[in-house]
Amino acid sequence: MSRKLFYYNGADLVFGYHNQRILDQIKQYSKPVWLYQKEVIQERIQWIQSWPQLGRLHYAMKANFHPEILKLIKENQCGIDAVSLGEMTHAVACGFTPQDIILSGVAKTRDELTWAIQNEIYQINIESPSELAKIIEINKLLQKKISLSIRVNPEVDAETHPGIATALKDSKFGLDFKGAEILIRRIADDSNLQLKAISFHIGSQILNVNVFEKAIQVVKPFYQKAKTLCPELERLDLGGGVGIDYMDADSDKDLARWKALEEIYTKELRDFDAFLILEIGRFLVARSGVLISRVEIIKQADQVNYLILDAGMSLLIRPALYDACHEVLPLKKSGTDDTTVYTVVGPICESSDVFATNKKMQTLSEGDLVAICDAGAYGSSMSSRYNLREPAEEIFI
Ligand code: LLP
Repeated sequence: MSRKLFYYNGADLVFGYHNQRILDQIKQYSKPVWLYQKEVIQERIQWIQSWPQLGRLHYAMKANFHPEILKLIKENQCGIDAVSLGEMTHAVACGFTPQDIILSGVAKTRDELTWAIQNEIYQINIESPSELAKIIEINKLLQKKISLSIRVNPEVDAETHPGIATALKDSKFGLDFKGAEILIRRIADDSNLQLKAISFHIGSQILNVNVFEKAIQVVKPFYQKAKTLCPELERLDLGGGVGIDYMDADSDKDLARWKALEEIYTKELRDFDAFLILEIGRFLVARSGVLISRVEIIKQADQVNYLILDAGMSLLIRPALYDACHEVLPLKKSGTDDTTVYTVVGPICESSDVFATNKKMQTLSEGDLVAICDAGAYGSSMSSRYNLREPAEEIFI
């Protein structure tokens, strides 16, 4: 089955499930704009929450921290995965309680840990001996009961871009099992520290879901061993990372990928006595957003025909950082075939500001509008003011 998120209704590009023409949302274009559909996120939350064994879905808010999205996440009884003081306080400002928050991150500061301990957040995922030492030191004064998790590195190749693989041997993330065990013994000795969870996160934009199976298989025996040392252990935090096919925005295929992963989780964890947590970002929000941009200049170099947009890597850095592909679709179909070859670039003063190389498209003119697809995750949240360009407005339809 197939349920496309982008298609043409006559000449007009449609985004979402209700035949909504993007052009109807853009009254008077003056600069790039992010367009979002909350319904896409809502649907995906339901897919995941319908897994009967799930304890709680936490949203990795680094993917997109727009308040409208956080509100929707909150309305669906999800928790938050945060990685900084800024994210934690923003989550609280958007209606979450500290008990909804997991704090991840490889180098948490004293301020971040103090806030987390003082506010008694749900779980702090520890990744190094120094971090545990800092927590113990801070708690000398605060004397709180602290819910901890140890993030282990299962050393599984997530088969993704090296820039977003987090569980290769010698990764900066997590602890190997030997190092993790030393910290668990330390936690067992301190009555204020409670080892509530074991967590792992092997990487992002993972398309081969079988790699999750490998990770679970290595972590399960370690969890059992940890439980003999800390009987209060009750949660397994499975991280996030499930990817989408950026070349095929098809909701049914996304659902099929989730179902394949759910089957793996169910098979591996059916008789596993633990409260199961997911920390998902991209899969929930990537498909919910597009970046609308205008063709500013068309320019012929000797061998290359440049389509230069008014949006570039300062707004969407993923192509420049990870060679990521995002479809670029004209909002108006001209009737001509896709026979003109363009290299689609942004306006930023960097040669890596490239969205697509030698892409066959319909013939376009300066002033035409295009949609850069699947930009809801790690789009606006990673954008910058580089070249002192203005941030793009974010609109929900
Ligand atoms: N949990 C932890 C500890 C993480 O570090 C991350 C993402 C997630 C959960 C959520 O992963 P997701 O479900 O979104 O794959 N900027 C990159 C992605 C970086 C992901 C960082 N960590 C990109 O644009 O592809």
